[in-house]
Amino acid sequence: MKTMEAAMAKTPQAYFQEVARYKTEPLWMRLAEVLTNEPPVRALPCLWRYADIRPLLLRAGELLTAAEAERRVLMLMNPGLEGEVAATQTLYAGLQLILPSEIAPTHRHSPAAFRFIVEGEGAYTSVNGERLIMHPGDLILTPAWAWHDHGNETDAPTVWLDGLDVPLVKGLGAVFAQPYAAGTHPVARPDNASLGLYGAGGMLPLGAAHDGPHSPLPIYPWKQARTALEQAGAPTTPHDGVIFEYVNPLTGGPIFPTMSAYVQMLRPGEQTRRHRHMSSHVMHVVSGSGVSIIGDARLEWRAKDTFAQPGWMWHEHRNLSASELAFLFSFSDRPVLERCGLYREEDRGPQG
Ligand SMILES: [Fe+2]
Ligand SMILES: [Fe+2]
Repeated sequence: MKTMEAAMAKTPQAYFQEVARYKTEPLWMRLAEVLTNEPPVRALPCLWRYADIRPLLLRAGELLTAAEAERRVLMLMNPGLEGEVAATQTLYAGLQLILPSEIAPTHRHSPAAFRFIVEGEGAYTSVNGERLIMHPGDLILTPAWAWHDHGNETDAPTVWLDGLDVPLVKGLGAVFAQPYAAGTHPVARPDNASLGLYGAGGMLPLGAAHDGPHSPLPIYPWKQARTALEQAGAPTTPHDGVIFEYVNPLTGGPIFPTMSAYVQMLRPGEQTRRHRHMSSHVMHVVSGSGVSIIGDARLEWRAKDTFAQPGWMWHEHRNLSASELAFLFSFSDRPVLERCGLYREEDRGPQG
């Protein structure tokens, strides 16, 4: 600040006007703004209650069809990001509804997407002609530039959480999207065919190869995730309880180059140790109830709620129940930060 004031005093006003005329600006006047000691966190910790949003989503179902809307979604907007389509600085989240007999038309886009199923049994997402059948708690991927549509041949509404890397891809100026010219992509393979190939648990087809940067496994069933968590027994990290990452079975790496996804379990009364990291996360409560302290905010969550945990903010989670397990799904931008050498993590220790 002192440097800036001294520089200001020594620089004639006319100089600033003259450099501006040539579309330049003195860095020395804005150095502290450009190179901050720590990242300024614009996103806010924020909770979206399913009990508030579900009725509004169902009302949207009365107002317009899935075909009319193309995607009938209520986006989760972070109030710190001033109208940007973003739940955190890099991640998009939304709740999508599809009613019985509806099909959300086929399209594709360069941002990668996944669905985490919140309610409804038996609807599907079709990815490049393979239908992936939805059950609550399943994670279904639609990688960048893959044709996809959603259909509901059941007699109940289906809702899922959409997660996309839209803010990140938009920041890179790399958003492309395209509708499928012929309406709906034809069915090209048996339902869940890729689950048989890549989801056999520790086994892969001999010589399996895959040319994309994303996981070849497009569906991660809840049943497997829950079994893994329950069988783990002890916490896998002091900051998360028992936590597993959904991985690409060919590489052991994240599901997408831009986003990783996790599922975690907090035992009754369990309190995690406070820490912070560069990655931002959107957290979704599968079941149970608890509280997360994120920065100065105290977010009390219940089943099916979703909340934003901005990057570089101290946070801790607690299962408030004395008898019930709490299960949380989350996704983050960690792969990008790690790949770019920008990932950092700090532990505030047991006293927090
Ligand atoms: Fe899409
Ligand atoms: Fe964390």
